[in-house]
Amino acid sequence: MKNITIAIDGFSSTGKSTVAKQIAKHLGYVYVDSGAMYRAVTYYAMQNGFIDDKHFNVEGLVAKLNTINISFKFNNAMGFAEVYLNGVNIENDVRTLEVSGFVSKVAEISEVRQKLVEKQQQLGKDGGVVMDGRDIGTVVFTDAELKLFMTASAETRAQRRYSELIERGDDVTYEAVLKNVQERDYIDTNREDSPLRKAKDAIQIDNSNMSLQEQFDKILKLAKTTLESSVK
Ligand code: CDP
Ligand code: CDP
Repeated sequence: MKNITIAIDGFSSTGKSTVAKQIAKHLGYVYVDSGAMYRAVTYYAMQNGFIDDKHFNVEGLVAKLNTINISFKFNNAMGFAEVYLNGVNIENDVRTLEVSGFVSKVAEISEVRQKLVEKQQQLGKDGGVVMDGRDIGTVVFTDAELKLFMTASAETRAQRRYSELIERGDDVTYEAVLKNVQERDYIDTNREDSPLRKAKDAIQIDNSNMSLQEQFDKILKLAKTTLESSVK
């Protein structure tokens, strides 16, 4: 059977990565979290003094891009691939609200996008991939057989992300998470290079009132229909 490409774009905390992992597991496909790659570059920038609350040395970061090696390694216990920076597992480190506070600024830099898009295209070149992010259907895989665009209200999304961070043991407030979600929505949709947009041929799904199960069932059905029509 043909290995299709599934591109899932949308706003923060719409459940993209949760459903992408489930669908990839169900179909035996590879899941790639493109957001983790932008988070990895941001984490590198923070660790190496290129970005903090007061300054952002864009040129310094860009000059170091070729020394930043991002990779993924499947963790059997977790059931998905974790992100590594220069050989070190940074899966947990990149999920903090602090990284979320800088990541959209880093993701505005064209040189960063170019490097990561190339890597994403390489990872998905043989199909059989589910990739989620902001520009997967519009830039990375414009020919993806199935494109989805996920939305939900900002409050619903912030509540989801807040619960997740509290469960991890992070010291955050709902208000700070909501502010971050809204700021990232704004920067991601208004940046010049590859802004977050629904691809013309993407199917929009508002999951504000959908459970994880309902969302999975709906998207699996779409994936199966797409698979059937692409073997004909
Ligand atoms: O999981 P969440 O939706 O909070 O974010 P993410 O998918 O980890 O992405 C973090 C940030 O990376 C986004 O807010 C974007 O600024 C950037 N990003 C991007 O520009 N393009 C992508 N394909 C993926 C993420
Ligand atoms: O990848 P993205 O940022 O779009 O979202 P996610 O990390 O998959 O989901 C963020 C949180 O929302 C997770 O804790 C999901 O379990 C939860 N969620 C939910 O409760 N109901 C949904 N329909 C979608 C996501």
